[in-house]
Amino acid sequence: MRQHVNPLSSNFNQIERIPSLSEMFSDSKLNLHLDIGCAAGEFLFDLALDNTSWNYLGIEIREKLVRNAKSKVIEREIKNLYFVFGNANNILNDVQSKFIIKNLKSISLNFPDPWFKKRHYKRRVIQSEFIDFLSNSLQKGTLIFIKTDVEDLFEYMDCIISSNFCFQKIDKKDFNYYKSFNPNKIKTNREKYVILNQLDIFERIYIKI
Ligand SMILES: C[S@@+](CC[C@H](N)C(=O)[O-])C[C@H]1O[C@@H](n2cnc3c(N)ncnc32)[C@H](O)[C@@H]1O
Repeated sequence: MRQHVNPLSSNFNQIERIPSLSEMFSDSKLNLHLDIGCAAGEFLFDLALDNTSWNYLGIEIREKLVRNAKSKVIEREIKNLYFVFGNANNILNDVQSKFIIKNLKSISLNFPDPWFKKRHYKRRVIQSEFIDFLSNSLQKGTLIFIKTDVEDLFEYMDCIISSNFCFQKIDKKDFNYYKSFNPNKIKTNREKYVILNQLDIFERIYIKI
């Protein structure tokens, strides 16, 4: 079992320079998808190869995983994929990331660290302040996809997102109406493990209105 990284550690207060979209991607005008807590990025590699008409950005707090993912992008000459190291909350809240938030068309949070103890809830990626920040900064129509195998965490995330009136739940069967690509068609590493072990998956899609 890997040790979870404490995102509130002061190690993550310093943020690396965020390059412009045209430094990250060969066509900066494509729609942008962000995966928060992307681990080694396999899910994003699969998406980037499957649907080349979008750009993909991954944020991950474990530096070595990001370093390896970045090397793989260069090796494989993938032009629509970029990784940033750090605490996603700090990075997205930073003034130099404003252009990222403004350009996002969708965000996925797949199997975020659950932080089971109540006193550790503050380490969870989804916090009311973060959702308020997103609701004030995202374009209308931006989609948020959440997925977890921890029911308690699902209820916590759903409660926070749904209590913000700028986000509305989308029924899975109505998804096609929104004409977005569907990141859920690709399985993440954790999801493959969960399916193999026949555990439940709790998921929901929200739209910024
Ligand atoms: C349980 S793993 C899931 C990985 C992947 N999304 C999947 O579904 O296989 C959660 C990931 O989120 C990362 N993480 C946790 N808190 C984070 C934060 N505040 N910012 C960025 N990444 C974070 C962890 O390091 C870990 O790689």
